[in-house]
Amino acid sequence: MKHIGIIITDQSDPTAQAFQKACVSNDIRPHMIDLRQRNVTVGESLSSQITDIDIQQLDAIIVRDVGAGAFDGVSFRFDVLRQLEHEGVLIVNSPASIQSAANKYYASSLIAKAGLPIPKTMVFQDTGDALEILDTMEDAVIKPIFGYKGKDIVRIKNGAIINNDGTINDSDLEGTIDAILEQRGMLHIQKYIVNPGRDIRAFVVNGKVIAAIYRTAPEGAWINNLSQGGNESRCELSSYQKELCIKASRSIGTYFAGVDLIEDMNGDSDKSLILEINATPSVAGIYKAWGINAAEYIVKDVSSEL
Ligand SMILES: Nc1ncnc2c1ncn2[C@@H]1O[C@H](COP(=O)(O)OP(=O)(O)O)[C@@H](O)[C@H]1O
Ligand SMILES: [Mg+2]
Repeated sequence: MKHIGIIITDQSDPTAQAFQKACVSNDIRPHMIDLRQRNVTVGESLSSQITDIDIQQLDAIIVRDVGAGAFDGVSFRFDVLRQLEHEGVLIVNSPASIQSAANKYYASSLIAKAGLPIPKTMVFQDTGDALEILDTMEDAVIKPIFGYKGKDIVRIKNGAIINNDGTINDSDLEGTIDAILEQRGMLHIQKYIVNPGRDIRAFVVNGKVIAAIYRTAPEGAWINNLSQGGNESRCELSSYQKELCIKASRSIGTYFAGVDLIEDMNGDSDKSLILEINATPSVAGIYKAWGINAAEYIVKDVSSEL
């Protein structure tokens, strides 16, 4: 019997459970592993008992969630995965691709280098320079490089800060930018793409798009993430959009990925841009809209490589 480790932080996470069930239905023994509970001694083998086998004896590992928090801890857990990878355990997504995807600046650079379209993106490390460029941009967002779930994104339209519900925020722009710079040490600025009130999440597995959904923000709001109140509905991608998603996933090196696309105002599919790649995507939205179980596709493809 094959053994697959599933890296989780929350046993009740629907995506973690979907991976677990998909293993069982494919005659694979799943092992739920929380890397935050592992202790290691440097120089000694990574050997560590999980239920009745050793972590090194796993045939593959699927990474759902390495856990957030302090930099040292996150980096340590990635290093453990890298060590296991060196020792021959197949890890999807690979630690390198998860790290590339999680870093929005680096990911955008890889996507752009592959010749794929992204919204104009810039980095500034000085408030004055940032204010100057924002003055020339009608509509822009400042996003955390390691952001997720639509959190901590600041939109600036014609010099005013726009709240997620579309209302104007009275905060002083210069003070806000100073504070972001102070906190993050850099400003990651992107042109805001005026869109039809929705964006697209496509699920790519092993070079194929298995399904896509529109995510539509609540009335007046502009952040479409499902975790911010967005609603999912079925989306049929054009062949151009499919091609974009597959190439974008390839440019980051992900085995499976949630690819976020944004359309222009007219929903013209040929003008779609890539917003980001998620290397540890939830399978819930696609399942709700389509009844398609992405975890099943991932487990099947991974097991065929063992
Ligand atoms: N450049 C942009 N133009 C328009 N909307 C954007 C832009 N960047 C982000 N958004 C909105 O914010 C959401 C979250 O942004 P994203 O870059 O995907 O980061 P996260 O990792 O937080 O999901 C997007 O799904 C979209 O609704
Ligand atoms: Mg996103």
